[in-house]
Amino acid sequence: MSQIFAHRGASGLYPENTMKAFKEAEKTGCDGIELDVQRTKDGHLVVIHDETVNRTTNGTGMVGSLTLKQIRALDASYNKKKWFTHNKVPTLEEVLEWLQGNSLLCNIELKNDKVAYEGMEEDVLQKVAGYNLDHRIIYSSFNHQSIIRLRELDENATIAPIYSKKGVNPSLLAASTSANAIHANYRVMTPALMNACQRMNIPVRLYTLNDQGKLIKWMQAGLQGIITDFPDRAMKIRDSL
Ligand code: G3P
Ligand code: CA
Repeated sequence: MSQIFAHRGASGLYPENTMKAFKEAEKTGCDGIELDVQRTKDGHLVVIHDETVNRTTNGTGMVGSLTLKQIRALDASYNKKKWFTHNKVPTLEEVLEWLQGNSLLCNIELKNDKVAYEGMEEDVLQKVAGYNLDHRIIYSSFNHQSIIRLRELDENATIAPIYSKKGVNPSLLAASTSANAIHANYRVMTPALMNACQRMNIPVRLYTLNDQGKLIKWMQAGLQGIITDFPDRAMKIRDSL
């Protein structure tokens, strides 16, 4: 059965990467959430997708040039279809605390492929270590050097490189980064590549699967993980198969 992860929370209907989106995801009964982490000027890990606050909040500027206080003063209520109000950019800590009250899995994506946040791997692992959630956390990144660094730092962590380019061999990528899962854009995955990973005990998770036909196709093909903006839709489909 495919595990269903809410991409940036239930971001199809609610402001992405907010507690509202995560809590709405939980209500769908899905297996986990996916979130993105950047670092503030004063070293705090915050849950936001872009390296700037421009698209998803009412502020402007690079996350790394703003303090936590400045970022927390913003309204992060952007949604693809409409603006909500009164949503803050969560700290990673806030999400980890909330996870202690439920049983969701959590895919933490380190957003260190465009901005080099030196030492971010240590920061994230240290933060998670305080919460006794290790078995429920999956670390991922488009930065494959960062994946290798995470493995150096923690031999037991569940770690997945993300990729979106055609021509990548996911089995080789997993082996060369000592990863234990693969996260890929669904456009570059084939059932044959997925099966090759599965033979190596490497689960494959695909983003961002929102389309009903594609959800059905991949669930029936035995995909291990679906990362979707619409966990409610994916859950209904999974229940119907
Ligand atoms: O982790 C899968 C997916 O979230 C990667 O793409 O841009 O939505 O962070 P993006
Ligand atoms: Ca992400």
